[in-house]
Amino acid sequence: MKNSSDDILDRLEQVATRQNGEIDLKELYGDYTMNVIAKCAFATKPNNIFVQNATKLFTFPFWRKFLDYAVPMWLLDSLKFTVLPSDAMDFFRSITVDLIHQRLKSSEHHDFLELLMNAKKLGSNEISDSIKDIDNAFFRKQTDDERNLNHNALASVQFHTGNKTLDEDEILAQSVLFFSVGFETSSQLLAYCTYCLSLNPLCQEQLHYEIEQTLNSNQNELDYNTVSKMTYLDAVLSETLRLYNPVLRMERQASEDYILGNTGIVIRKGMIVGIPVWALHHDPQYYPEPYVFKPERFSAENRERIVPYTYLPFGAGPRNCIGTRFALLETKIALIKALSKYRFIPSKNTQVPLRFLPVGRPLLRCEHVIVGVQKRC
Ligand code: HEM
Repeated sequence: MKNSSDDILDRLEQVATRQNGEIDLKELYGDYTMNVIAKCAFATKPNNIFVQNATKLFTFPFWRKFLDYAVPMWLLDSLKFTVLPSDAMDFFRSITVDLIHQRLKSSEHHDFLELLMNAKKLGSNEISDSIKDIDNAFFRKQTDDERNLNHNALASVQFHTGNKTLDEDEILAQSVLFFSVGFETSSQLLAYCTYCLSLNPLCQEQLHYEIEQTLNSNQNELDYNTVSKMTYLDAVLSETLRLYNPVLRMERQASEDYILGNTGIVIRKGMIVGIPVWALHHDPQYYPEPYVFKPERFSAENRERIVPYTYLPFGAGPRNCIGTRFALLETKIALIKALSKYRFIPSKNTQVPLRFLPVGRPLLRCEHVIVGVQKRC
């Protein structure tokens, strides 16, 4: 991650030396997050074609999604129709097949692909590790009820999977998912965070001060411990994830009939329930002045007051995002590096407010996020 973030500095240096230099943050950070996921999860070095194909997975035309809803599944299957563009899927599938074949001949790599190839059932230690991850994703300690619910759900996953290892199709599916979600979500988070900081110079200076102080008192060593000490950085990212949550809504399918409190509403087994994350994050009942960027909502004292399940940037429960800690670490490293040396400011092409592409896609998406760059003295 640290090596990949050096490329960000090279690009920023080129822009900052130009008069009125401005940069598209989507491009800057897209290359970085693709590099990181390809190196850390697949021990491979990506090129531009990786980014182009991963972007295609999130920019398919709306009619594809419409067909998915409107046409019966048996017909779509017989026409071999997929919502996601098949050329982009094929690209990642063939990369993964090549990597798997290389792995069968070569030594250990200690990366995600190797974990998939060696996947076994969860032991009880791994269940408690997963529960800790869920705690992190909630950004608070869970109640005993929630912890029990998660423990039972994880244990039932263990029961269903038994000693089964993953077959090649499953490894491929997980790998394509990793390449795609691991790249776009984190690069969006970085772009929106930098954009928010450019419009809120006081927050940017406060964050710069925290970065300077923490690095100075840790002999400029940028490691996991140093990053964890930066509490304001964490609050800035958490608030960005509230304001611009990359995953707009989630879905769950009921595994049994369920009565919703005393509303009289019954969710029947098999029903799909949509969870409107964007609406929750922008509901003034939970977040007063919801469209204002206020990192202090996530200060240590205020964080505890967040109403459970109203903050879901990484989802919740046993199927929450498995890349949470990874994503937060890679975004923090990139921001620390960039903000140490450069200041971001609004420029003539900065959109206020940002214009997003029409909904219907799985992710929040802006074509460009442009800001100005100045070198710090
Ligand atoms: C800022 C970055 C990210 C955000 C906001 C994000 C958000 C999410 C959300 C909302 C879900 C659905 C959770 C649910 O339904 O409860 C999800 C699932 C998932 N994410 Fe992320 N994610 C991010 C980064 C990553 C990264 C970097 C990886 C991989 C390294 C990753 C891998 C996954 C996977 C594999 C799933 C599916 C988990 C499952 O179905 O069990 N994500 N993510």
